[in-house]
Amino acid sequence: MKSFFYLLLAMFLTPILTISAQSTHSYIGTDGCGMCHKTEKQGSQLSIWQNSKHSKAYETLKTEKANQIAKEKGFNTLAVETPECLKCHASGYNVDASLIGKKFKVEDGVQCETCHGAGSDYKDMKVMKDKELSIKNGLVVHDKLDTFCTGCHNSESPTFVEINIEEAWQKIKHSSPKN
Ligand code: HEC
Ligand code: HEC
Ligand code: HEC
Ligand code: HEC
Repeated sequence: MKSFFYLLLAMFLTPILTISAQSTHSYIGTDGCGMCHKTEKQGSQLSIWQNSKHSKAYETLKTEKANQIAKEKGFNTLAVETPECLKCHASGYNVDASLIGKKFKVEDGVQCETCHGAGSDYKDMKVMKDKELSIKNGLVVHDKLDTFCTGCHNSESPTFVEINIEEAWQKIKHSSPKN
């Protein structure tokens, strides 16, 4: 019975999450987040991300190997121009130009706003300091890493290797020292 309830909840929430991810908030880019999330005291989020493979996910699509994979999958476009590849390797490539801030770079691949939502409306200090208000303004936080990470780390990836979520999280973890 309980699991049925969660199933219903998931069915109800999924469209909402999809809509909020595509709503009217615009993308500010990693430097915009990094200006406040880079010192050790804050948790070095910017450098941890820069040193992770997520920051290179778009560049990966420019490789010969990627083009080969795209071709084998039956696409006639370069990997980096193929929405079916970009959907797990980048953000912002498929939204209206009016939602793309001047400093946003699609080249940053899987970036802050890929996982935390477009930030134009929560990036201000007075909003950010209030978690509830940030969430109302588009911030996405994740309670369940397994379901979130497997949204991309799954067999739909042509090069899929199963990951242990807990170990993978240790590689990209960027918690605030306070937590
Ligand atoms: C003006 C400074 C500033 C900017 C810009 C900023 N943040 Fe924050 N952010 C904060 C502060 C302050 C907190 C409160 C928690 C803390 O002290 O670490 C916070 C908290 C967070 C949290 C934790 C929420 C929680 O409690 O679980 C996330 C996630 C986050 N920010 C992501 C981002 C992202 C992504 C961007 C860029 C779109 C961004 N921030 C831009 C200052 C900022
Ligand atoms: C939007 C899609 C997406 C999401 C969500 C995502 N990832 Fe990734 N992840 C990727 C892509 C794409 C790569 C490969 C990047 C490359 O090699 O160019 C990757 C690579 C990684 C790697 C490096 C793997 C290696 O071979 O060293 C780790 C670790 C990782 N992700 C952990 C996580 C964790 C933990 C989560 C959940 C908190 C997560 N990822 C969520 C798309 C995603
Ligand atoms: C692959 C997805 C992914 C990427 C990319 C990513 N984050 Fe996160 N981030 C998470 C997850 C998952 C958590 C832990 C749960 C939560 O708070 O959402 C987290 C937590 C945080 C927190 C809260 C830390 C705490 O302990 O309170 C901050 C702040 C944050 N991220 C900022 C950033 C910034 C800034 C960037 C870009 C430089 C970034 N994140 C990139 C997935 C990601
Ligand atoms: C469902 C999400 C997803 C889709 C769709 C996706 N990828 Fe990826 N890709 C990932 C993840 C996650 C990784 C890192 C771990 C892995 O290989 O599973 C990755 C890694 C890669 C790598 C590096 C792997 C290596 O061993 O060098 C290449 C190249 C790549 N993808 C190309 C592509 C191409 C080309 C497409 C489109 C035809 C594509 N991907 C579609 C999620 C995805």
